[in-house]
Amino acid sequence: MKRTLESLDPAGIEGRRALVRVDFNTPIKDGAVTDNTRIRAALPTITYLRDRGARVVLLSHLGRPKGGPDPKYSMRPVVRELERLLGAPVVFLADPTSDEAVTATRRLPRGGVALGENTRFYPGEEKNDPALAERFAALGDFYVNDAFGSAHRAHASTEAVARLLKPAVSGFLMQQELRYLGDALHEPKRPFVAVLGGAKISGKIDLIEALLPKTDAILLGGAMACTFFRAMGLETGTSLVEEDRVGMARDLMAKAGAKLVLPSGAVIAQRLEAGAETRAVARDAIPPGWAMYDIDPATERDFAARIGAARTVVWNGPMGVFETPPFDHGTLAVARAMAEATSQGAVTVIGGGDSAAAVAEAGLAGKMTHVSTGGGASLEFLEGKALPGVAALDDA
Ligand code: 3PG
Repeated sequence: MKRTLESLDPAGIEGRRALVRVDFNTPIKDGAVTDNTRIRAALPTITYLRDRGARVVLLSHLGRPKGGPDPKYSMRPVVRELERLLGAPVVFLADPTSDEAVTATRRLPRGGVALGENTRFYPGEEKNDPALAERFAALGDFYVNDAFGSAHRAHASTEAVARLLKPAVSGFLMQQELRYLGDALHEPKRPFVAVLGGAKISGKIDLIEALLPKTDAILLGGAMACTFFRAMGLETGTSLVEEDRVGMARDLMAKAGAKLVLPSGAVIAQRLEAGAETRAVARDAIPPGWAMYDIDPATERDFAARIGAARTVVWNGPMGVFETPPFDHGTLAVARAMAEATSQGAVTVIGGGDSAAAVAEAGLAGKMTHVSTGGGASLEFLEGKALPGVAALDDA
């Protein structure tokens, strides 16, 4: 267990500078934030600190700039969105490593908020450089990590700084994420079903291995199902198959037995484009020249029934190419089945990334027990890996 923000004495907050690592890695279009989910998710921590008289200094990365400043990845649009959400001014620290930035943090009024420029504009960030972490540490009197989405990265603003600036505690979003994902993984109400999708088995192999002993069933969709079909000796047409993972798929099937539930059929097409002719076929009837782009309606029904009978459901990865309708059908069917299961009392947890995007698009985010704000982070957590951004925080 890690030390939490609530454990801090009010006297240790009032008038002090809270350096808060948030994950404001949000999509930006034409200079404006197009999805503010991650910003809204950090508001409880920011508000708690402001209400107690802290001077709040926020740091985040945005996108993947190549180790130097790039206007495309500037935090300026995020400053405007945060001001709008808070209804208060936010000071922009154009160079959070400068002495001017330190002075600006000292000049903040109690309850004032500042946001630094993209931490990845500094090459030391991704190298977890202690010298850069020291510059960041100079911006605060204590450290709060609320960036669950970045907790799997050992970077200067997530890891090294937490070892320098004390106390170093977890914010509310971080706590909430760790609680929901942790409870689902370690104390699931049974039956516990995992729904896994995505294009490649290579990116999910650790997850499947880690979840096999914990779950009662793993429902597997997405293009990676085709690598399993190939392992079964089936014709897969032009479907995406990872030839070098077919042996691995065969071993997994042998190990998992009936626990691993593959699609019984596929929605196929000759081309991946909206309006292309599609067919729903059994998995042993994919013709040469056709590719699987989604699970078929029979599989949707089977998966929905299994989700409906579960008490805990964790989902990571789409069932098909959901960004190209009609191949979003299976993914939306899983989202609806999970929303229905939630209303029947099941605990439903959505790993971040594509599954979270699909749930949001279906307007069903509010109908899940928890939608994680972290794609890679929730994946690594569910794989049982330690998250460096969490490990570096003070023990409770
Ligand atoms: C994410 O969007 O998953 C996090 O913000 C981490 O971003 P990264 O994968 O570029 O490190």
